Amino acid sequence: MERPLAGRLIVLGITGSIAAYKAAELARLLIAAGAEVQVAMSRTATAFIGPLTLETLTRRTVMLDPLELLPDRRIGHIVAADSADAVVVAPATARWLGAMANGLADDVVTATCLATTAPVIVAPAMDGEMYLHPATQGNVERLRGFGYAIVEPETGPLASGQVARGRLAEPAAILGAVVGALAGRPVREPDPERRPPAAREVRDDLAGLHLVVTAGGTAEPIDPVRFIGNRSTGRMGVAIAEAALARGARVTAILGMTSVPDPDGATIVRAPTAAAMRMAVIAALPEADALVMAAAVADFRPRAVADGKLARGAGLVLELEPTEDILAEASGLAHGRAERAADPSARPVLVGFAAETGSLARAPEKAARKRVDLLVANDVAEPGSGFGTETNRVTLVTPGREPEPWPLLAKREVADRLLDRIAAVRAALDAQSAERPAADAPADGSER
Ligand code: CTP
Repeated sequence: MERPLAGRLIVLGITGSIAAYKAAELARLLIAAGAEVQVAMSRTATAFIGPLTLETLTRRTVMLDPLELLPDRRIGHIVAADSADAVVVAPATARWLGAMANGLADDVVTATCLATTAPVIVAPAMDGEMYLHPATQGNVERLRGFGYAIVEPETGPLASGQVARGRLAEPAAILGAVVGALAGRPVREPDPERRPPAAREVRDDLAGLHLVVTAGGTAEPIDPVRFIGNRSTGRMGVAIAEAALARGARVTAILGMTSVPDPDGATIVRAPTAAAMRMAVIAALPEADALVMAAAVADFRPRAVADGKLARGAGLVLELEPTEDILAEASGLAHGRAERAADPSARPVLVGFAAETGSLARAPEKAARKRVDLLVANDVAEPGSGFGTETNRVTLVTPGREPEPWPLLAKREVADRLLDRIAAVRAALDAQSAERPAADAPADGSER
């Protein structure tokens, strides 16, 4: 099938005419032609067709008010106006034509048209005499003067019983006008981040999985006001939490110092120091199906914390002691539990991170030493990777296999690929458990 609007974003403005019900068919045709559709409705239009119908068809939240903000606090109609390839107003009422002709932006459809430089296509619909009134005709002429394309109403039976010109043009004809207005123009704003947000694809392939993820850096106190910290923002760990939540997992996020918003929907545990993080991880371990240690845990902390703020002196020598290796300890506890139960599934999938500078040569040894199932190694000195960036280039290390270098990806994409691998390890552990020879079961048949 031909998709003349592939990749386009079309704003469909609906105003309060009985013909508003036909806007659902127009939305369907625009989508079938390849467009993404963002609906904006005047309040009166909602009396004729429910926003739910249009949200279901377009998978985007309908804009109803010029004052509305998107979930990320951007102004909805401005984002729509700036990213739309075209705005099509169908049906356009006599009142709306008057408001638009005079630039009175008190409804979201007028506001969007005023704010956009994209082509605007207008399909009026009203009673015959209303359409012929010099006021209406004058307004239509003014809109033509703005460069708007007018899809003239058709002659036919109207809601009033009258047979006259005023019936909304057929949706196929309006679609044709949109396609015609865009011929030869490049897609205006292909970046989905700059468009009004579409509903995320709903997946629940991780439903039933409890993921415990650590994120951010720890802060090891020197005195009441100072600490030893690191450049971790928590972005990678939080991306893993968010991706897992979006796929139906239950998530406990153990957070050190982070500078990104907390993952919405996770159980949040604050753990500002290595010692606090160790306690939180060990407490969460028995309930975890997977443990992902994405936090940048300090390797050293001051041996003693000064009670009062250290005064400036000639200099300062800090004595540091090593912190506990949380991942190694958690891994030891987890493997111990699985071995005692003689059940490979009686432990979480164990995932570590290794931030290196320069070479990733130490990563396989680190994976083996910490007895993890997966180790995500990255060179934090490389541009586009590491602290505070939106992207990451990582190498996945699986004990006993060749390291797998992944391309430069958005952190969310790294998160989703990692979750795919975690799910595969989880499934393998559960399968090994199911296939245990019967001899493994206690001879007396008792429960363990
Ligand atoms: N880690 C931990 N506890 C620590 C230090 C690190 O649990 N005290 C975890 C990190 O969260 C990460 C993994 O161990 O998942 C690897 O961290 P990294 O600092 O690269 O390794 P180290 O064990 O510190 O090894 P090295 O100092 O030799 O680089």
